Amino acid sequence: MQLSELYRQVIMDHYQHPRNQGLLEDAVSVDLRNPSCGDEITLQLQIEDGVVKDVRFKGSGCSISMASASMMTEAVKGLKVEDALKLGESFRLMIRGQDVDSEELGDLEALQGVSQFPARVKCATLAWQALDRAAHTDDVR
Ligand code: FES
Ligand code: FES
Repeated sequence: MQLSELYRQVIMDHYQHPRNQGLLEDAVSVDLRNPSCGDEITLQLQIEDGVVKDVRFKGSGCSISMASASMMTEAVKGLKVEDALKLGESFRLMIRGQDVDSEELGDLEALQGVSQFPARVKCATLAWQALDRAAHTDDVR
């Protein structure tokens, strides 16, 4: 099986069976819209003692944006907030075609092909942008 076929399957799996979908009570909530297409995501973040305790999302969007959101929630749950944001930086570098340590990226690596389609970079980074915003919201503890 070609690597790209494997990646395609990982993306479709996250799109069809999104992880951590739904909404939380008592969480910071961020709504974000991709201005280029109008797709929206709601991200909810619970932080305890500087660690991502829970994270959920809801939204409507293309397969790349929804799969990316699903992968992001899986990747950051249980991480220190600062490490979650650092992972977001690595992900953005990868999406822009730069070499990054693939071990830390896990499933997220499946989206590396997006770097060949600059118009889709926003789709892939929408959830991470929402995470950044939620993490910098004042009432996160
Ligand atoms: Fe959304 Fe192809 S149309 S990823
Ligand atoms: Fe709208 Fe991808 S086309 S988020």
